[in-house]
Amino acid sequence: MIQCPRGTRDFLPNEMERRRHYENILRRTAGIFGFREIATPIFEETELFTTRSGPNILNEIYSFKDKGDRDIALRPELTAPVMRMFVNGMSNEPRPLKLFYFGQCFRYERPQSGRYREFFQFGAELIGNANAETDAEAIALAASMIKSLGLLDYKIRMGHIGVLRGLLATAGIPRDGMAEVLQKLDKKLYDEARPMLEAAGADSDAIDLIFKITGTVGGKEVLDMLDLVPDEAASYLRELTEILEAMNVRNVEIDLGVVRGLDYYTGMVFEAEAPSLGAEKQICGGGSYSLSELFGGEKVFSTGFAIGFDRILLAMEKEGQTFEGRGVDAYVVPVSDDVRTDAAKIVSMLRSGGVSADIDIMRRKMAKALKHASSVNAKYAIIVGKNELAEDSVTVRDMTTGDQRTVRLNDLASMFN
Ligand code: HAM
Repeated sequence: MIQCPRGTRDFLPNEMERRRHYENILRRTAGIFGFREIATPIFEETELFTTRSGPNILNEIYSFKDKGDRDIALRPELTAPVMRMFVNGMSNEPRPLKLFYFGQCFRYERPQSGRYREFFQFGAELIGNANAETDAEAIALAASMIKSLGLLDYKIRMGHIGVLRGLLATAGIPRDGMAEVLQKLDKKLYDEARPMLEAAGADSDAIDLIFKITGTVGGKEVLDMLDLVPDEAASYLRELTEILEAMNVRNVEIDLGVVRGLDYYTGMVFEAEAPSLGAEKQICGGGSYSLSELFGGEKVFSTGFAIGFDRILLAMEKEGQTFEGRGVDAYVVPVSDDVRTDAAKIVSMLRSGGVSADIDIMRRKMAKALKHASSVNAKYAIIVGKNELAEDSVTVRDMTTGDQRTVRLNDLASMFN
């Protein structure tokens, strides 16, 4: 038997209905914030992803030569594609540009619960002005999206990668040697970070300061830490926090140790996590970044985030959230072969009236047809029998209560209004 490739999934109808339901909630929320949907190709020229991240990223993505000998990659994320799209055809549009997207991404990862090779992101990118309002708009949307899905247990951590890089640079760590230390600081693995910092030449005062600043997490008071390193980022983060408060965005804690996996971030960075997910608990990640100039465009201030759609659904499941599919309104059951044509007419009349209606096409006996109607969550069975038809009527059975009554054909469609 051929299985779907490792790290990918099939979505059966019930699951697909659930996914579409939540996807639409996210779409609606993005619309409420004034963001507009876009779509980009699922594959791009590989260079789009290697330009910023270097050739090492090739180990983590699906890349190949197409039949025209072009280097192509399945997109591992959508920020680079969206910025390419901006440079290609949107750079003259009035700002801010508030864009959102939903689609699959591909990463060559070791699959486990919550980590797939094909997964879905719901994300947003904002090209605005280099000010706190722009970042606040992105964080507020992310927070509102998570809330709109009904997830209860999660938190948002917000930091500033510029501050962190600045601290490391002051301690004498070269930019290209920062990645590994940053990962340790993000996870607050100070015992592992210390020897790395020492080996790079940082003295113990500088190391203590780095640990103190990245290790303090909480409300606005954390920003007082920044007085220890004079930096304009401190007043920026203060302003951002105030705007978020004014927008009633709760659940955001300041954590100057936040480091993102992707290396295009320059300023504010944030992540949301759902503790119920264990190791793969990050349900959303984002921040402000610089990419457009690498793709031949002007340098613009952009910020954004992506929600891991599969992960957030998993977290909701873990919290016991269930989803009831809609099913069909009517299931038409011809009682005998000689009324099949009439039954076809009736189902067609219902459908033309906008009623979701299904019909038995398996030629089942009545009892079995009703059982099937139940299994597809039909609200009513429309039982078409010869005697009732003679009086221009059908029998309507309420599938929840089992009550039956006779309804005239002329009144049937309006019953569902
Ligand atoms: P990212 O953190 O790499 O950021 O991915 C965003 C989210 O996608 C993660 O928080 C996680 O929930 C989900 N995710 C990542 N990898 C997997 C996987 N293998 N399986 C399931 N879910 C996964 C970005 O991609 C940035 N482009 C976000 C961004 C937009 N930054 C600025 N604008």
